[in-house]
Amino acid sequence: METVEITCPDQVFLDKLDRELKIEPKDWMPEPYRQTLIRQISQHAHSEIVGMLPEGNWITRAPSLKRKAILLAKVQDEAGHGLYLYAAAETLGISREKMYQQLHNGKAKYSSIFNYPTLSWADIGAIGWLVDGAAIMNQVPLCRNSYGPYARAMVRICKEESFHQRQGFEILLTLSRGTPQQRAMAQDAVNRWWWPSMMMFGPPDASSPHTQQSMRWKIKRFTNDELRQKFVDICAEQATILGFSLPDPLLKWNATTGHFDFGPINWDEFNQVINGNGPCNKERLDARRKAWDDGEWVREAAEAHAAKQKTKAAAA
Ligand SMILES: [Fe+2]
Ligand SMILES: [Fe+2]
Repeated sequence: METVEITCPDQVFLDKLDRELKIEPKDWMPEPYRQTLIRQISQHAHSEIVGMLPEGNWITRAPSLKRKAILLAKVQDEAGHGLYLYAAAETLGISREKMYQQLHNGKAKYSSIFNYPTLSWADIGAIGWLVDGAAIMNQVPLCRNSYGPYARAMVRICKEESFHQRQGFEILLTLSRGTPQQRAMAQDAVNRWWWPSMMMFGPPDASSPHTQQSMRWKIKRFTNDELRQKFVDICAEQATILGFSLPDPLLKWNATTGHFDFGPINWDEFNQVINGNGPCNKERLDARRKAWDDGEWVREAAEAHAAKQKTKAAAA
């Protein structure tokens, strides 16, 4: 008797992952994989869009026309990142309206870093260097994640993030060669952004419930602690080039491990900010809700236009 091999869809899915093939929108995928991706990609999209707010705050106050043009381009890039990512999430079966709704009603999270204020021009440098630097560290491995639309969006995003990081570094380098006041302003910005940037990699591996599953699904390629360590190693050296110190008395090269040791992270602060109690949470959500309400007429006009086009096409 001939035997017919029956392959269950789950097996096909896992086999694709093992062979480093991409999962595409029309492929079968386990529901928890789909839900994890929707959560992660939409949070990522929200972070890009909310991330425009602290920096947008400095566009009108940038110190020169050149600085203004660069910052404007960067903030526009972030809007583009948000749009690619919302589009990638939509391929998983969630609508953009639903994602916005989840952001506006506080159900969806976004990166806690954007709930801190930008107090001086040097903050724009510190954000580019540290925040975009941490984003690159997190996002480069995502270019190889198993979900096709997400991975492809990340390739372009990462190219732009690297420009963001360099423009931030260059702002700080310029300030580091400036007056004592400019140096002090830049050091103050680095001091304020260092720890929140360290928190961008998420909780320590021991208390990160999704890490193992996400690694098996090849959504995640490195753990939070691995990425954080890479970030510390790079920043500790770059800080020396800039001539600024990082606000961590325990930061020290460890010849045995080949890495920099660093001090404890204040996870209580992280949890407070994640749960809505950071310095700017309310302001950020209010700004996003206002943008949605103010855009009502645009959505209405677009719908009316689409309906007109449809009628015209039907009549032709
Ligand atoms: Fe971005
Ligand atoms: Fe960026």
